[in-house]
Parts: sequence; C-alpha cells; structure tokens
Amino acid sequence: YNLIMGIIKDCIKGKKTSSIPIWFMRQAGRYLPEFREIRSKNTNFINLCLNPQLSKEITIQPLKRFNIDAAIIFSDILLIPYSLGQYIKFEKDLGPKLDDLNFENIIKSPDEEILKKLNPIYDLLKNTSKEKILSGKDLIGFVGATWTIYVYMLNKKSPKKSLNNDIYNYPNRDDLIQRIIHVQKLHIKKQVENGASLIQIFDSWAGLLSEKKKNQFIYEPTKEIVEFTKSLGVEVICFPRNIQNYKEYCDVVKPNAISIDYNIDPKIISKHIDIPVQGGMDPKILLGDKETLKKEAKRYLDIFKNHAYIFNLGHGVLPETDPSMVDYLVKTVKEYK
Ligand code: CP3
Repeated sequence: YNLIMGIIKDCIKGKKTSSIPIWFMRQAGRYLPEFREIRSKNTNFINLCLNPQLSKEITIQPLKRFNIDAAIIFSDILLIPYSLGQYIKFEKDLGPKLDDLNFENIIKSPDEEILKKLNPIYDLLKNTSKEKILSGKDLIGFVGATWTIYVYMLNKKSPKKSLNNDIYNYPNRDDLIQRIIHVQKLHIKKQVENGASLIQIFDSWAGLLSEKKKNQFIYEPTKEIVEFTKSLGVEVICFPRNIQNYKEYCDVVKPNAISIDYNIDPKIISKHIDIPVQGGMDPKILLGDKETLKKEAKRYLDIFKNHAYIFNLGHGVLPETDPSMVDYLVKTVKEYK
C-alpha cells in the first residue's frame, strides 16, 4: 500500500535513524497565518475538511515551513459521527456542537453511504502522498479512539465544559460501541489503501474514565482497532491522553508506539515502558522564551537518549503559538547529538 515512508516509521520499527524524528499533533492549523487565511474564506469547517484540494494544501503547509518528518492529514475525528449522519457545527470559541444522536439511523446507514461521505479524505491522502514534499516522510492518518468518539456522540459537545454522566448507561451503549468500531475499521482501511504510512489513535478523553470502566470503554475497543491496523501492515501510535497507567495500557492494547501527555513524568515512562515513545513536552513551553524551550526539549531528549523516541508535544500545538518558536524547537531537536 504505502509508497512513502520516513524515519518515524523506521524509529517505530526499531531501526537507527540519522536524527531524532519529529512532528507535531495539530501541526496543521490555527497557529499558522496561512491556515487562518484559508479558514477565513471557508466558514464551514467540515466542508473545508472535505475539500481535497484545500485540505491537501493545509496538510503540507507545516512541511513548507519546518524540517519535520511527517504530514498528518488535515481532517477531524468528528468526521466519524458526521459520516453516520450526526451533523456538527463548530461555533467560534465554543468548540464542536453535535446534533442529537439518532440511533436507528446510525445503525441502519450502509457502508457505501458512510464511505461516500468520507471519500474526499481518501482523495486528500492519495493526492498528498504524490506530492514531492512528502518524499522520505511519513503520511499520518488518524481516527479518534472509540471512547473519545462515543463521548462526543453522546455528550454532543466537549466534555471539558461538562460531561453528562448518563452516557455510561445509554440504553444502546454496546451496539453503539460496536458501530463506532465498525466505522473506525472502514475508515482506517481506506486511509491505508490511499497512502497513510502510519495511523495514530487519538483518545483525548481517556483520562476521564475511572479504573473500573476502562476495560470496557478503552482497552477492549482500542485493542481491537490496534490489531486490525497491524493486520493491514501499518504501525499504530496510540495517544491515551492523561490515562492513569501507561504501562498497563501498553501491555494490554499493544500499540507499536505510545504518545504521552505532559502530566506524566517522562522518567517513569522511560524506565517502565520498552516500546517506542512519542511526545510529552508541554505545548505551553512554546509560548515562553527560547532558552526555556531549549532546556525543556533537551530534558526530554536526554531522558529518552537510549530509547526509541519520536519528538512531539504532550498535546496539540496551541493556537497562540508563534511559528518561529516551532521552527526553533525543530532545529534544537535536529541538532541534538
Ligand atoms: O493534527 C493536525 O494538524 C491534523 C488535523 C486535526 C484536527 N483535529 C484539525 C482541527 C486533528 C488530528 C484533529 C484531532 C481532533 N479533533 C481531536 C484529538 C486531538 C486533540 O486535540 O485532543 C479532537 C478532540 C478533535 C475534535 C475537535 N475538532 C475540537 C474539540 C475542535 C474545536 C477546538 C479546537 O481544537 O480548535 C475541533 C476543530 C478543529 N480540528 C480545528 C482544527 C484545525 C480548528 C477549526 C477552526 O479553525 O475553528
């Protein structure tokens, strides 16, 4: 399937790389003036994601600026609810707002109809993978984890504002979970067939779940998605943000690499986890001065000196980030010996 691959994939496969691989979650987006220019003319965010010409342009924008090792497709985890007919609006500063969930429709919708809605994403992948700027680099496809998608579908907005506790006892809970898994698999397979060299699973709300519930909502579904992705011959990186026990997560879910948040002590990770590690540094460090940035980046690099390590942040690049700080960080990492 994959025509392109880069040093991130090499690192995950245990190969020595000529420098530390680096890319950023949310590297394509709000902090880049060239993104904001396109965005200001395209007020419907979902339509922008589903415009393969523009989404390709946004996908490669960060590669034009920075010496990074991957592009991540410009898309969104909420396109899965969208593909099932649960529509979404993005309100300024309020985040996503989802329509009521219509379970009957969600269960009924045929695969062809779901894939027809997502098809522009596969065109985006196909077109991006042919771009010269991608040669020798990875093209990262992604999905939201089952739990995080389930949260958005039932809570209908970010749980940062408030979480409706009824979601755990939703009457069609198990069927909905199975339905999400089904669409995740369809979507991953198509992304791989169209040029994704790696898949990342974003479980942004993993930290919300209690120990008692994590087996059912996180471990079981994610393990299934990881196995499925591996069966396609593609490596998978998991980002279970703020999960209590990364070691147990890795032992149960068995991703090819684990992306860590900024609340966990990286020393504990390097000591107890032996699979490749990604990320960790607090994105807020990029809002400060260069000296602190360099020091903090080196702290992560030193801790993971003898570990397969992909430099990234502990969450996405913040909208108020100055792109020149990102450039400085990339140079710091690339010069690290
Ligand atoms: O990483 C990248 O650069 C690729 C593109 C990407 C976007 N969203 C574009 C986007 C990726 C990988 C995502 C993932 C995503 N989307 C997650 C998981 C990662 C995380 O941040 O925790 C989540 C939870 C979502 C859902 C979502 N999409 C929210 C809550 C919001 C609104 C708040 C925000 O982050 O802006 C979005 C909108 C969104 N997705 C924007 C972008 C560039 C901003 C759209 C705008 O300009 O208004």
